[in-house]
Amino acid sequence: MPTPATIRKLTPADLPAALRLSRAAGWNQTPDDWRRAMELAPEGCFARMQADRFAGTVTTCTFGDVGWVGMMLVDESCRRQGHGKALMQHALQHLDANNVTSVWLDATELGRPLYELLGFSAVGAITRFAGRFSTKREPAADASGRQVGPLHQAATSQLLAFDARMVGVERAHLLHTHCNRADKPVVVLQSADASITGYCSHRPGRLAAQIGPAAARTEAELLALLHCVLPEQAGDVFVDVADKMPEVSAWLESHGITPARRFTRMCRGDVARGLPPATSAWLSSGPEKG
Ligand SMILES: CC(C)(COP(=O)(O)OP(=O)(O)OC[C@H]1O[C@@H](n2cnc3c(N)ncnc32)[C@H](O)[C@@H]1OP(=O)(O)O)[C@@H](O)C(=O)NCCC(=O)NCCS
Repeated sequence: MPTPATIRKLTPADLPAALRLSRAAGWNQTPDDWRRAMELAPEGCFARMQADRFAGTVTTCTFGDVGWVGMMLVDESCRRQGHGKALMQHALQHLDANNVTSVWLDATELGRPLYELLGFSAVGAITRFAGRFSTKREPAADASGRQVGPLHQAATSQLLAFDARMVGVERAHLLHTHCNRADKPVVVLQSADASITGYCSHRPGRLAAQIGPAAARTEAELLALLHCVLPEQAGDVFVDVADKMPEVSAWLESHGITPARRFTRMCRGDVARGLPPATSAWLSSGPEKG
């Protein structure tokens, strides 16, 4: 009789095994990404074990009553044996127990059939643009007096409030992982009266720098931020853009950053919760966190 498979909490000791899975799948995560996922939800990240074998992972994180699922990975040699389904059911039970009313994820083609089976529906699509920015830095101010520059610590609470308005949920714990970084990756767009009207962050990746999260009132304002952030990147970048942003997509393509893959944004539960207002412009912080 084979030993029954089990699910347990993912811990920092699992980092090498977890990283092996994300690398084998060709994903961009670094050890810091896995560490951050576990810090954001120490009780909400799980490993599937088949005897001593590390068969798969899933992570969750919550923003009030909105939950996100990510890092759904099953070792290639263990697929189509029910491990992915068991992991997702476990993650959903955990989120249900934490009063989450809508669960979101960005699905790959491999993941989508499984998520449909478990009650998720497609809500939109995200295109990953990839490449190296091809133009020199452009001026940080424009004719309207808007300024793009580094986030000053004192403005962090203003940024958090702005993000909540633009994205529709309060994401302080996620954003603090960017705002508190020593390399100060966050730039903000400020109007003449110093109020924040947009921001953009980025982080290193295994294959390319992941640009985002970012939010702004309009696509034009998001582009003003990208004009500042992209020329600073030495190598390739990934930018995950919702299909509703044709101006941003066209601008990236005209600067050598082109569509590389697609994700389906899916939701289970109350779709009105966690859906960014149609009027805002934003970039995902990566498929594992939305
Ligand atoms: C997606 C993934 C986690 C699924 O894990 P898994 O352990 O193979 O999934 P399960 O065996 O639990 O699948 C349960 C059911 O989901 C459906 N399903 C799962 N993968 C499927 C696929 N590739 N095509 C069609 N249906 C699929 C089937 O109904 C399956 O039941 P069956 O095998 O009896 O037909 C795995 O393919 C993987 O790690 N892929 C690479 C990383 C990735 O893309 N992850 C998803 C991120 S959003």
